Amino acid sequence: MVDPHDAEKAAAAVAAVARVRPRMRLALGTGTTAAHAVRALAAKYPQGEGISCVASSERTEALAKELGIAVGPLEPTDRFALMLDGADEVDPSLALTKGGGGALFREKFLARRSDALVIMVDETKLVPHLGTRAPIPVEVVPFARGSLIATLAARGIPAVVRPGPTPGLSFRTDNGLEILDLRPTHPITDPAHLEAELRALPGVVETGLFVNLAAAVLVGRPDGTVEERLPGPSR
Ligand code: A5P
Repeated sequence: MVDPHDAEKAAAAVAAVARVRPRMRLALGTGTTAAHAVRALAAKYPQGEGISCVASSERTEALAKELGIAVGPLEPTDRFALMLDGADEVDPSLALTKGGGGALFREKFLARRSDALVIMVDETKLVPHLGTRAPIPVEVVPFARGSLIATLAARGIPAVVRPGPTPGLSFRTDNGLEILDLRPTHPITDPAHLEAELRALPGVVETGLFVNLAAAVLVGRPDGTVEERLPGPSR
């Protein structure tokens, strides 16, 4: 299927990769926009230039390796100068919904070890409130799935198990876990509060709510320009 926003995603990715300098240690996100960044990185540094990376998914790792980018395992004391990643939604405070591709745990884990998380999106990802255009993914231990769905329903948050590519089987993350996609019935006005509430539920491993993590959001526009959005002073 042709993505009508592919060019905007690519423009945002090229702008993000322009921030990369030789010998940087990078964290690589997951998804179609992150894949554009991986390709732009390979084009900018065909000889490597000392760039080394850790990927947030097996998919991204495979693409990076195929393009000759040095990508390896997470080291115990790793810190990253930059993490380049996409997002499913960006609200005006630059809180994000991520995990449409199911890689949210590793994405957040790497983002927290990065000096700057640079998010690349097309303008359709900009929303007034998280939960507007995408569900809120939550990575869960399969054993707890049914209990979590019931708990969330009692709190007025419908949730479904994300289906996998094989009919009748659930999607499994790179960590062997499942994703619940939450469809809150009210606008999410306090994503930090919802994140804390979800994280407190036994069986929840991570949520796709990324609050106070993005250092910059690069928005690719249909006219080919890229707008940079920075967090406000209240952060
Ligand atoms: C992967 O788990 C997600 O967090 C992606 O970063 C997000 O879904 C954006 O994906 P696209 O770049 O494909 O829109």
